[in-house]
Amino acid sequence: MADVPVVARVKELRNFVQAKRLKGKSIGLVPTMGALHAGHLSLVEILRQYVECVIVTIFVNPTQFSVNEDFGRYPRQLTQDLEKLHEVKTDLIFAPHLEEMYPSDFSTRIIISGPAEVNLEDRFRPTHFEGVATVVAKLLNQAQADIAIFGEKDYQQLQVIRSLARDLDLSTRILAGPTLREADGLALSSRNAYLSDEERAKAPQLYLALCSAASLILSGMDINEALKQSTEIIVKAGMQIDYLELRHAESLAPVLSLADGPARLLVAAHLGKTRLIDNISVP
Ligand code: PAJ
Repeated sequence: MADVPVVARVKELRNFVQAKRLKGKSIGLVPTMGALHAGHLSLVEILRQYVECVIVTIFVNPTQFSVNEDFGRYPRQLTQDLEKLHEVKTDLIFAPHLEEMYPSDFSTRIIISGPAEVNLEDRFRPTHFEGVATVVAKLLNQAQADIAIFGEKDYQQLQVIRSLARDLDLSTRILAGPTLREADGLALSSRNAYLSDEERAKAPQLYLALCSAASLILSGMDINEALKQSTEIIVKAGMQIDYLELRHAESLAPVLSLADGPARLLVAAHLGKTRLIDNISVP
């Protein structure tokens, strides 16, 4: 199989898309920040079932990191990424340079409220979703794909992007992919590479705590009591919790009872220097 072509310019991306369109092909987009793992690759494989041509974007977007976050040390491993994408059959990789995405006179920001203002990630990363919405709007517009796919792993981000696409009448349909996990339950994440062996052994407790709370809530236990028990599991594993909350699965508004609609349990916690997030549905 020939190597997957890699382009760095928007013009090249557009030329590729236009050529495929002329041949009547449907186009799908998988936006990523690279350091690819099986979770990212699963999105490529899901999308492949819907479209004939899959484009993966790799861009570590500086505007979604705040100054005290890990932009500088975020893993960058393009060569390995290309090899992995080769295995799952990708049609094009778009890996733009910083100046292509943000030339020196770049002056636009997309601001979202709704699911971006619900006191979850936004409380701890106040400018994060502005950065995500702006870069995703750019990528969707650059590629003009029929469908773009995002992971449920970043559940609030997924809701923010759905809102963005709807509010700006973007023609790209937004699809969601389930969270891929290690055998012990830890959600795959590029940031898991930061964990020491000792931290890695403790990290699955985050998911186990979510599962425990979900099953207690479903068995009728008071929501706050169930969350309290799970908080203890997470703290005992040596993590500091940013939030652990049951929310409405679409609006992300607080829910007081399962009768309020489909619910999602969301958590963020620090394990050493690494911040982990996870979520599960509470049907
Ligand atoms: P990144 O963290 O690289 O993730 C790219 C996509 O992979 C996101 O849609 C994310 O939700 C999904 N993903 C991550 N871990 C996953 C897992 N374990 N299972 C399934 N999907 C998973 O999210 C971003 O990049 C950026 O914010 C981006 C949307 C690219 C904008 O810069």
